[in-house]
Amino acid sequence: MESDSAGLDVRENDKHGSISKDQELIYRLKKIEELENFKTMKDEITNTILFLKEYLFRNPNDSASVSNESNDYNASILEGLEQALKAYSLDRCRYYVRRALKSLTSVKTGKINDLNMNRWKSYPDIITDSLWIVGKRDRSGAHNASYWGNFIPQIPQQLLKRYTKRNDWVLDAFAGSGTTLIECQRTGRNSLGIDLSEEALNKAKINLSREQNPYGVEAHLVNADSTAVSYRDLLAKYGINSIHLAIMHPPYWDIIKFSEDERDLSNAGNVEQFLQGIRKIAHEIHSVLEEERYLALVIGDKYSKGEWIPLGFYSMNEVMKEGYRLKSTIVKNFDVTRGKKSQQELWRYRALAGGFYVFKHEYIFLFQK
Ligand SMILES: C[S@@+](CC[C@H](N)C(=O)[O-])C[C@H]1O[C@@H](n2cnc3c(N)ncnc32)[C@H](O)[C@@H]1O
Repeated sequence: MESDSAGLDVRENDKHGSISKDQELIYRLKKIEELENFKTMKDEITNTILFLKEYLFRNPNDSASVSNESNDYNASILEGLEQALKAYSLDRCRYYVRRALKSLTSVKTGKINDLNMNRWKSYPDIITDSLWIVGKRDRSGAHNASYWGNFIPQIPQQLLKRYTKRNDWVLDAFAGSGTTLIECQRTGRNSLGIDLSEEALNKAKINLSREQNPYGVEAHLVNADSTAVSYRDLLAKYGINSIHLAIMHPPYWDIIKFSEDERDLSNAGNVEQFLQGIRKIAHEIHSVLEEERYLALVIGDKYSKGEWIPLGFYSMNEVMKEGYRLKSTIVKNFDVTRGKKSQQELWRYRALAGGFYVFKHEYIFLFQK
């Protein structure tokens, strides 16, 4: 999808009566593009580079737009113009100018997100490597770590940017304290979260009420067993046609007991029973997920009686049996959990003595329907 945003007079004043940096750049580049003299073209590019550098020197954060994104974006425009200066022919030089102009004037988005691929360099925060080393937990707004076992908000943050568009519907089959739903509310996605635990949903409700809803989206919490509920009926209840992104962050079997409820996957009697639950949910999600959309499964492994149980890969396999295509296996670091922090030395001793490694990672499996 490509659209032109520069139909307007590029020198039109903004609401404060001044011409924006982007408007000035567009004006200059359009003029340069029309030049037929190679030397004049290069001179004008040099002037434009000076203009941009001077502007950035005066406005180090380029307060006109989101600072991080715009800094990288400005850097990529500069890089393009410097490439144009090095070109050996007028045509090649014009090609680079046109490219810079395009990134300023047209928006190119795909079917499953709102990223403008004409400005793809302006998303340095989006991870594209399969190894995620995420720093401190985001505690902004309503996010908090009070629900033991909740994931860091950076996980849904990354997923929503890559795999959803504004106003899409996101389903979280293990909503817990609502981390995914908070992120959805913040970024203009509608959300549906299911959880078996009333206690978790009460926390989620409080969290959501503490988070602003700048885009006026919907967030629904459902107290149900994700392995038994009909997702079609659930969607119908809220007037939703289909889901655009589904997230599963189940218990890592019995590592953390979430409740006494026997339907709780953390109470599954054995690994087969746990995996049956995972497969049932993947099956149900398949029936409501739009074609080509994504399902993310966040899960870790566990030790039992001195043996590494590859819960992650077992679960991945169950989801694939339901006809999804595996798109990525991400390995993400995690911090030492509260319980284990005081016992770090003990764990190191045990690892050395017992011939094993202390868990420091979990997985995010990405599947496409
Ligand atoms: C790892 S936590 C999810 C945390 C969530 N991502 C967050 O950030 O708060 C797993 C959740 O699964 C829920 N759960 C376990 N078995 C379930 C089931 N059969 N149906 C629905 N929820 C279940 C637990 O109550 C728990 O809240």
